[in-house]
Amino acid sequence: LVGFSGAILSYIMCKAMNRSIINVIFGGFGSESGGGEDSAGAAAAEKGVKSASVEDAVYWMEDANRVIIVPGYGMAVAQAQHALKEMMELLEARDVEVKFAVHPVAGRMPGHMNVLLAEADIPYDHVLEMDEINPEFASTDVVLVVGANDVVNPAARTDQSSPIYGMPILDAGKAKNIYFLKRSMKPGYSGVDNLLFYQDNCSLVFGDAKDTIEGMVTSLKGGFTYGSMTLETVDKNGVEYDHISYDSSVSPIEVGTSNPATAQEYVAFKFVLYRDGKTTSAGPTFKGY
Ligand code: TAP
Repeated sequence: LVGFSGAILSYIMCKAMNRSIINVIFGGFGSESGGGEDSAGAAAAEKGVKSASVEDAVYWMEDANRVIIVPGYGMAVAQAQHALKEMMELLEARDVEVKFAVHPVAGRMPGHMNVLLAEADIPYDHVLEMDEINPEFASTDVVLVVGANDVVNPAARTDQSSPIYGMPILDAGKAKNIYFLKRSMKPGYSGVDNLLFYQDNCSLVFGDAKDTIEGMVTSLKGGFTYGSMTLETVDKNGVEYDHISYDSSVSPIEVGTSNPATAQEYVAFKFVLYRDGKTTSAGPTFKGY
């Protein structure tokens, strides 16, 4: 019975998500899933590089005093600047100081990052140049590297044989925690491996930068992503939770069309909640679109 109700829920979720059931069942939890990210995670593990989920990064960012965002070429490719602005506002509402660190050659043309950040209305006083921000990394809780790579690679300082040797870099590696948002283990423009990936304080969050930041925004708003479905908290019942997990025995409590104008389908259900490692029944309800 339990298995069967799970199958029905899975089917309804797939319909709501417009995804195949295989894709959902074998997809990851916490970020947009797909073969690309799975294989990127496996490639990272093979090289001894840690990967992390959207929720891992949000967990540390929410509690941080300061978060520094390092944008790079990948932010431009993903067009993640608007989602970054929203994430900045959500963090600031939690009294987290958010700054953007711009390297002079980040991106592919002079001023590339400044233009994109300005386009997203990120205030100028939040955007700092390399020399200004470098002394701040050592006292920073979380650095989020959004599609940048060469501009934070310590090989520029330590590896005389590297093509980037001698290039000044952002001191991202000195922060307590570093999360790299990228899609694979591929190097940046210079084609060289990034030594920062192998530091203990560094993890890679695989996926397109815009999708990942949007997942972070959802998480900061109290919801989360399950595969490609965004789940919004409908009713949190005042419960604080450590993490939430999908349980196939949970039945949907409501299935319907939220807005007749757009005919958007949704499925609402309760997830299994954990507090102090134990399940708790009085959990929030989520609506998944
Ligand atoms: P890069 O070192 O080129 O790294 C860009 C990173 O973005 C890559 O690691 C890539 O990894 C990731 N990426 C690409 N698309 C993405 C997406 N959709 N979502 C998430 N990540 C994505 O960039 P940088 O740190 O900005 O450094 C700039 C480089 O370009 C320097 O080497 C610089 O010398 C050179 N350059 C600069 C200029 C100027 S004037 N700015 C001009 C010419 C050359 P994945 O593929 O794994 O996602």
